[in-house]
Amino acid sequence: MNPVKVGLLGLGTVGSGTFNVLNGNATEIARRAGRGIRVSHAAARDLDRSTVPGIDAVDLTEDAFSVVDQPDVDIIVELIGGYEPARELVLRAIANGKHVVTANKALIALHGNEIFSAAQDRGVMVAFEAAVAGGIPIIKAIREGLAGNHIQWLAGIINGTGNFILSEMRDKGRDFADVLAEAQQLGYAEADPTFDVEGIDAAHKLTIMASIAFGIPLQFDKTYTEGISNITREDVGYAEELGYRIKHLGFSRRTEQGIELRVHPTLIPERRLIANVDGVMNAVLIHGDAVGPTLYYGAGAGSKPTASAVVADIVDVVRMLTSDPENRVPHLAFQPDALSDLPILPMEDVQTACYLRMCAADRPGVLADVTRILGERGISIEAILQKEPIDGATDLPVIILTHTVREGQMNDAIAAIEALDTIKDSVTRIRLEHLGRE
Ligand code: HSE
Repeated sequence: MNPVKVGLLGLGTVGSGTFNVLNGNATEIARRAGRGIRVSHAAARDLDRSTVPGIDAVDLTEDAFSVVDQPDVDIIVELIGGYEPARELVLRAIANGKHVVTANKALIALHGNEIFSAAQDRGVMVAFEAAVAGGIPIIKAIREGLAGNHIQWLAGIINGTGNFILSEMRDKGRDFADVLAEAQQLGYAEADPTFDVEGIDAAHKLTIMASIAFGIPLQFDKTYTEGISNITREDVGYAEELGYRIKHLGFSRRTEQGIELRVHPTLIPERRLIANVDGVMNAVLIHGDAVGPTLYYGAGAGSKPTASAVVADIVDVVRMLTSDPENRVPHLAFQPDALSDLPILPMEDVQTACYLRMCAADRPGVLADVTRILGERGISIEAILQKEPIDGATDLPVIILTHTVREGQMNDAIAAIEALDTIKDSVTRIRLEHLGRE
């Protein structure tokens, strides 16, 4: 049988990794797929800089649309990233009757509903395993491996760059900017690194996982997103003293009122396995009613780990090339006409425990005022830590852990605490999740 022909869009970190893995493991891959797979065409932004070994045998161009329009290409692999022209290229590939594999989380999170609907109408597949958590086969795990479960919640460290930064700051006391520069050099960071540190990249990935876990349309615009740029070394240290680690977490939970969908720095008890996931590694913890908690761990970024997921999708497409489009694994795990209209909860209605850090004047009655404000709003305190002043300052850091509270109530309490003339600056709030069996 003739090999399946692939058109590769993008020869950057992931594109070159995909080409290398397809070539290097060609025999093993063909044994799995049942057919050979050959990259026949590829598009790169700058041909002079495309020095991938073996690429000479491929028809190379700078015009990605010409690859998408190639009549004899069966599968388009989109590894350009970003919203446009990726969206236009993918929609044109679908219109041309080609199957699509993409690693583009931004594209799927924002335009997935439109893309899947077009693919459904045209009877082609769109596979996107590499869009979430790099090399970890998390889409397959949720969509297929956990298909028998009512999924209750999921929590993920799903941005390698952010986790690398927090880990290096904690372990080596390194500077934020210095670690970010290293992540960029290693090819982990997004083209716009604010996507990593402000949580946008993690929000893209969380949006996708939540849709597949709960059977809801993709709703990136309703995902609450908060970055790590305000986390200080002191917060990391105080959290450790209290038995917690600070992780930048994507969290989604099904509640009776709707779905929580949020990305923010989070305290996690240090005894949880996921709290010990460091460096560029990713991990996703999923709680299903039948299976209980399951944890998935691996490289969340990088050339070959991401290529591993891209190639797995290509193999899936090759295996299913001849199957009935109506009977393929649905894009969002649930049949398109069975998606639920459960609302995404506004952040004010989300319930979490909290870590609060404030800078208090060293005067009698200050703590009493703070605890009165919390008590009046029904917010219960789990732990209090009062530290020595830093570097001879007259104000004291006070750290409070609360029990679970509604976000809106906590906003109100924080505003009242900040209005006290004995509290300097703003109150730092980091949400806390126990991630235990619930
Ligand atoms: N910038 C992303 C990360 C790359 O650091 O995790 C993988 O999506």
